[in-house]
Amino acid sequence: MAISQDILLFFAKFIEKELGIIYVEANYFQLEHRLRDISTQLGFGSIDELYQKARVGITGSMKSLLLDLATNNETSFFRDASIFKALSSHIIPELTKDAFKSVINVWSAASSSGQEIYSIAMEIEELRKTGIKIPMIRYLASDVSDTILKRAQKGLYSQIEIQRGLPAKLMIEYFSKTPEDQWQVKSHLQSMMNFKKINLLEEWGDIGKFDVIFIRNVLIYQNVENKKKVIENIYQRLNPMGYLILGAAESLFGVSDRFKQIAVDKAIIYQRD
Ligand SMILES: C[S@@+](CC[C@H](N)C(=O)[O-])C[C@H]1O[C@@H](n2cnc3c(N)ncnc32)[C@H](O)[C@@H]1O
Repeated sequence: MAISQDILLFFAKFIEKELGIIYVEANYFQLEHRLRDISTQLGFGSIDELYQKARVGITGSMKSLLLDLATNNETSFFRDASIFKALSSHIIPELTKDAFKSVINVWSAASSSGQEIYSIAMEIEELRKTGIKIPMIRYLASDVSDTILKRAQKGLYSQIEIQRGLPAKLMIEYFSKTPEDQWQVKSHLQSMMNFKKINLLEEWGDIGKFDVIFIRNVLIYQNVENKKKVIENIYQRLNPMGYLILGAAESLFGVSDRFKQIAVDKAIIYQRD
């Protein structure tokens, strides 16, 4: 039975209000497909039944699944490799010039399944081995999706995921193979991490200040107003001279002029005053 446009519009509007992600009508078939999955997962016989319940009030588990369905979790280890090189060749050496700095705070906002934050940590640990004196690093990884955040926290990856971007040398050093042929992040890397559910469009809570913030491939789905709001909040959360890292296809053009743009080899990074 075809689902009415009103029902699809109801769920599309909910997703837009919560995440700022707009479902255009051309993608309603995809929305319908996913709503069918959610109905089954929650034990409803149809999307119509799900809708009748949602109209009365969207419960915790329903909300969590609806937000999961709207998010694109595409990621990989060392995605856009030049950024990680800029981290070890420029950002960390610059931050460690301050001899009084006892901790460097790094945040991967919209971390998806964790490849980004673990890549950052591996890059820095490898740099540490070269003898440069690096203070303790405090890592925060956050995402709006409960499901994907739990995956990040678990640090367990399939053979296919592990092959995407991770050099063999680092795989051997930082991961161990499970009897099920998966790859588990070793505890010395995993134990450095903190995970927190954060919707970038809502209050972030008491997360402190950061020296480096990665916010990659998430604002791309937002309108300019939301981008401006999030980047202004990022500015406030960065320590003076702290660094902001965007995705390869993203820029601050038309969003903020509060950051200095720096080219490090092929990478573009941003620094606050
Ligand atoms: C395409 S992934 C990017 C992952 C990683 N940063 C990278 O570049 O490889 C986008 C992530 O943003 C998250 N996301 C989407 N909207 C969000 C929001 N409003 N607040 C926080 N995270 C959000 C999604 O759940 C998803 O995991």
